[in-house]
Amino acid sequence: MSSTPNTPSPLPPATRREFLKAGSGAALTAMMAQPSLGSVFVEGSDTIRVGLIGCGGRGTGAAFNALKADPGARLVAMGDTFADAVASSRKSLQESEEVSAQVTVSDEHCFAGFDAYQKVIEQSDVVLLVTPPHFRPQHLRAALEAGKHVFCEKPIAVDAPGVRHVLESGKLATEKKLSVVTGLCYRYHYAKRETMKRIHEGAIGDIVALETSYNIGGLWHRGRQPEWSDMEWQVRNWLYFTWLSGDHIVEQHIHSLDKIAWAMGSYPVKCTASGGRIVRTEEQWGNIYDHFNTTFEWENGVRGYSSCRQWNNAVADVSDHVFGTKGRCTVQAHEITGENEWRWRSEEPDDMYQNEHDELFRAVRSGEPINDCEIMSHSTLMAIMARMSAYTGQSITWDQALNSQESLTPKAYEWGELAVAPIARPGITEFV
Ligand SMILES: NC(=O)c1ccc[n+]([C@@H]2O[C@H](COP(=O)([O-])OP(=O)(O)OC[C@H]3O[C@@H](n4cnc5c(N)ncnc54)[C@H](O)[C@@H]3O)[C@@H](O)[C@H]2O)c1
Repeated sequence: MSSTPNTPSPLPPATRREFLKAGSGAALTAMMAQPSLGSVFVEGSDTIRVGLIGCGGRGTGAAFNALKADPGARLVAMGDTFADAVASSRKSLQESEEVSAQVTVSDEHCFAGFDAYQKVIEQSDVVLLVTPPHFRPQHLRAALEAGKHVFCEKPIAVDAPGVRHVLESGKLATEKKLSVVTGLCYRYHYAKRETMKRIHEGAIGDIVALETSYNIGGLWHRGRQPEWSDMEWQVRNWLYFTWLSGDHIVEQHIHSLDKIAWAMGSYPVKCTASGGRIVRTEEQWGNIYDHFNTTFEWENGVRGYSSCRQWNNAVADVSDHVFGTKGRCTVQAHEITGENEWRWRSEEPDDMYQNEHDELFRAVRSGEPINDCEIMSHSTLMAIMARMSAYTGQSITWDQALNSQESLTPKAYEWGELAVAPIARPGITEFV
């Protein structure tokens, strides 16, 4: 099985990266001397203050990657809905041999609660947004309005209003010359970039079909403590509630959908999906499905077939295949067969989780921003469109999905009662 980027790795394996040759000593001083629009550092120093919002598995990993990316980066603030998450994340970063010296978060700059993000943003130059996806549009807007650069995990929303909000935020980032780097990490994997470049240059001819799978076992479940309110139970187990995660087709399979859209160079105009709950039927699994199958259609008639499921003890497969008139590309293997045989070979380090932060901090230092808002919004929408189709049993067009008025936001972000929305039933659940 190929890599499964959704398996959180709190602290990625240690390989000292060479990157900041440019980020140390004289080269760094020279770069800092240049006017750097949109780059706000602590006055008179080369320190970049980093703030982490969402201190779980991936958040801790992202903070580690950010600190490794730039010797001038300091983790100065951390926020989470839960104080225990902040404490355990800070502890593992403080205990990491590689980055502990860069972890300078004081007790006063550890924040808990639904408003923790605002306090972290205030303290930071670069903000890492790594909460469950539901909160991303709100957090992203707040960071950009405050003039901060952002690393933004995928997906960027759970519903169409959220996607539209992020598309607007993308314009704000452009105006303010701020960077927003996506956690769609394959976009920062050099082997994938080279593979896609070859597809785009015609190595497999014209694309006639695509197939992609994210078929794996189940992920974590954090149970329920008697003292937890409904809201706490759901936020702690956010994967299993559509309003928080978008369902696993949005939360996880987005990686695969992003890859086939990347290969095509455009997004599908329509899809027809099916899905349901076969093995995760008990209340603890909230209201998400455990499998989806989708046919996507592009404007030129090309079809893409996608499958994702989270079933234990079933065959696993995370792969993507692009079929063309001159050959075939197996994307995860970085291999092309047919008229133009090719396989990626390189001994260079290519840790996509590290690459995305290396490129972000380079952009921040150089004042040449990266803005991934459109890619991450559209790939998120592709997944939401498929979920809408599976939930309703209808074919859904891109325009319908983009203009959908369905909002999954609860009445209030408060620790208390919160009913679980009914599980969608195709043919009965209506498209909104
Ligand atoms: N790119 C990848 O390969 C990859 C891998 C894993 C996770 N992710 C993404 O990263 C995000 C986080 O996933 P994770 O695995 O770290 O989950 P996690 O549950 O381990 O961490 C999420 C943290 O966010 C906190 N949180 C929830 N609501 C919050 C709010 N409103 N404000 C502040 N904090 C809040 C939670 O308490 C938790 O500590 C998700 O969007 C997920 O899809 C991406």
